[in-house]
Amino acid sequence: MPYSKQQLWQRFKKYYQEFPQLGLSLDISRVNFPDDFFAAMAPRFEKAFQQMKQLEAGGIANPDEKRMVGHYWLRNPALAPLPEIRNAIEETNRSIKSFARRVHDGSVRGATGSFKNLLLIGIGGSALGPQFVSKALGQTNRDKLQPYFFDNTDPDGIDNTVSHIGSDLGRTLCLVVSKSGGTKETRNGMLEAKAAYEREGLDFGQHAVAITSAQSELDKLAIQENWLTRFPMWDWVGGRTSELSAVGLLPAALQGFDIDSMLAGARACDDYTRSPNLAMNPSARLSAIWFVIGNGKGEKNMVVLPYNDRLELFSKYLQQLIMESLGKERDLDGRLVNQGITVLGNKGSTDQHSYVQQLRDGLDNFFVTFIRVLRNGDGRAILVEPDVTSGDYLDGFIQGTRRALYENGRQSVVITLAEVSPFAVGVLIALFERAVGYYASLININAYHQPGVESGKKAASTVIDLQRRVLKHLRENAAKALTAEAVAQTVGAADEAEVVFNICEHLAANPVHKVVRVAGESLFEATYKLL
Ligand code: PA5
Repeated sequence: MPYSKQQLWQRFKKYYQEFPQLGLSLDISRVNFPDDFFAAMAPRFEKAFQQMKQLEAGGIANPDEKRMVGHYWLRNPALAPLPEIRNAIEETNRSIKSFARRVHDGSVRGATGSFKNLLLIGIGGSALGPQFVSKALGQTNRDKLQPYFFDNTDPDGIDNTVSHIGSDLGRTLCLVVSKSGGTKETRNGMLEAKAAYEREGLDFGQHAVAITSAQSELDKLAIQENWLTRFPMWDWVGGRTSELSAVGLLPAALQGFDIDSMLAGARACDDYTRSPNLAMNPSARLSAIWFVIGNGKGEKNMVVLPYNDRLELFSKYLQQLIMESLGKERDLDGRLVNQGITVLGNKGSTDQHSYVQQLRDGLDNFFVTFIRVLRNGDGRAILVEPDVTSGDYLDGFIQGTRRALYENGRQSVVITLAEVSPFAVGVLIALFERAVGYYASLININAYHQPGVESGKKAASTVIDLQRRVLKHLRENAAKALTAEAVAQTVGAADEAEVVFNICEHLAANPVHKVVRVAGESLFEATYKLL
């Protein structure tokens, strides 16, 4: 431990900051940096603050896609660089509230009655924010609508969710969320949902709402099938920063949350984090800390540990926000940099009983971001021991773990929230969005594109095309039993025999395709044929 207890107290007093208007405190005293660190970082931050200013003013901050980056305007439309953007945001927020009101009062209803469930279909930036907020603010049996999610193309997960909804599909409002409107997982989820409604004799369109870009495939489908309504996504809002657009605000309003408070929290946080005063800017400070801990190269992983069940999904949300934004091969000058910060985590104190053992005693390849909430629950508490509640234990565990880690030289940051509320959720989202933006400037990368995600999508469709060729071939040669290697050769994919083998194994495991596998002398002499 580089500091004595006395020195740590002095350091704590110097580096623990409270932002009372945000209900937020930031403690960076358990990160090892010299006292002149922030002064030394000032020149780098001059550029970061300048770039942030240009971004908020409507500059092309996403050069690869030649797009503006406007998530900060969502909570303060007056900042939007064009009146049409400002109007679009304000108009959308009004429509969200009015639609939610009409759902709640039953004037917009399902085939069998007023809506009681909400099924959101989306993935990545079109699902993680709504999932996080739903868990952070939801109250089972008290929310206006009970939320469900399809966030994958896994039929088992989909069936399970449909079974949970049970016989209430006619009272389930379905939000299909996709900025591009062409994401296959979401398209598949929508088709699966549609089939489930139709099995119940229900018209899907009468229960469906689209959140997507104008003229996308999804948008056209919603018009053609006469869905209940559509809400916009704009090209200047990225998926992972879309929680405070219709993507997050509509499900939140439907669940009954105070979306004005969410927006107010984000707006208030922006007011602090926009400031070019490094000493008073919690997002800039966080990004500086990431920089010093990981040597500007992400050399240490970030373990996110909210000691609060409601914030459990914040770890997952941050994983996407940070890794999809910062995980980049090249910098803005085209140099190979392979940047990123690995983010993992769930919640405390639960994780103390799984991997925290390694954090304290094993590989020193991480730092922890603790999230502490001062107010536990609704104030009602029993004493589990004299003078002690379960919530006191939670706080004891966070403090104890931080100390135990630091004693072994493990660094950490503590973010303290006064409580978990719609306002606090807005603050948290804005705090990290801006920290990611500053860090991207410090390491000179584009945080607002995602070429890796796009290439994964393309690679999957190559496999699906090959599967179609394999099935066609098996169909045309129904009498013959063929090895995967033979199939690969005859469909013109000799150098993709491994993929064809995996396709055949998957086809044979799923009766819908009517492919059978006949064991051979060895694994790769197994043959496949159509029934
Ligand atoms: O943040 C992102 O850009 C991605 O995670 C997208 O949100 C995700 O791929 C889903 O895309 P879409 O909203 O176009 O369906």
